[in-house]
Amino acid sequence: MKTSTRHRLLQKAAACRRTALKCRGDGDAKGAAVAYRKQGRLLKACSEAGLAAEAYRRAVALDPSDALAQCGLGQVLAAMNRHEEAKARLEQAAVLAPENPRIRFLYDSVRGGSPPRAPRHYVANLFDRYAEHFESHLAELGYSLPKAFGRRIGRLSRKTGGFCRGIDLGCGTGLIGRWIRPSVNRLDGVDLSPKMIEIAASAGVYDKLALADIHDYCRSCSIKYDLFVAADVLIYIGDLDEMFEGVKSCSRQGGVFVFSVEERGNAGYTLQPSARYAHSRRYVCSRIKKHGMRLIGGSQVRIRREKDRWAHGRLYEAAL
Ligand SMILES: C[S@@+](CC[C@H](N)C(=O)[O-])C[C@H]1O[C@@H](n2cnc3c(N)ncnc32)[C@H](O)[C@@H]1O
Repeated sequence: MKTSTRHRLLQKAAACRRTALKCRGDGDAKGAAVAYRKQGRLLKACSEAGLAAEAYRRAVALDPSDALAQCGLGQVLAAMNRHEEAKARLEQAAVLAPENPRIRFLYDSVRGGSPPRAPRHYVANLFDRYAEHFESHLAELGYSLPKAFGRRIGRLSRKTGGFCRGIDLGCGTGLIGRWIRPSVNRLDGVDLSPKMIEIAASAGVYDKLALADIHDYCRSCSIKYDLFVAADVLIYIGDLDEMFEGVKSCSRQGGVFVFSVEERGNAGYTLQPSARYAHSRRYVCSRIKKHGMRLIGGSQVRIRREKDRWAHGRLYEAAL
């Protein structure tokens, strides 16, 4: 996050705290709880987990029925690896707001639930909020996939004589697009987040951009692609059947699908306490086979730093 953005968010957080204190002075406990909750959210965005937890704790002490504050507290506790406390808070939030799919999903992430995918609104919202500092934050985390995808797809393109038309599934701000653009004549992108798409449009590397869910896009697409890319996107999709069906339905014969996953376990997929999915190698290979594709390449990759360690994953190349 840029220093100026961080400074702005911290100033806003301080203003929320002042509002909370004023509300308390006026005897308005609910108003104070809302202000502390907002302070917590801003501090969380600045990766100040400890301070955010403190603000959220104040909010829930003043209004224990505030599901969003309970949820925010659960999220920062999970980020601090305090899983039992996080689970209790998120359970409480899920009881208070049983119809809220985002809260249900976050609760599943700490209790070992396995919903098939992250809710669309949750993803769109998460990345709309993140869009402005997405690229600078990923640079700080040593995000390695743009270069890795660029190299792979460059090599595949030289081998096959070049790709005609590619689609970047979950294109985000266009980080991957910039690296793969030289390998494909025409490049489209699709993403759920309006703010990410807006930045991707300004990158000027895509011929066409669509604001849509990947599955819906592929299902209703009349274009035939010979290159599909999904970089750091399947961390929001557990069950990969629909994804492979979609890719297959709009692929030319011989089309290539290059994608990454976080890797974990020996079977199936796991929703991790980070609220991101990891897929076992066995599961991914079985899906590739099930959907009539061939594995043509792949290797382990260090995706990005996560606290004090690397998030490990695997890059796959599959062909129809
Ligand atoms: C971690 S970012 C990666 C962005 C880009 N691929 C990159 O590597 O820089 C994940 C992106 O996938 C998008 N996304 C996640 N699930 C999606 C879905 N089901 N349909 C469309 N976009 C999705 C998010 O909105 C977000 O922009």
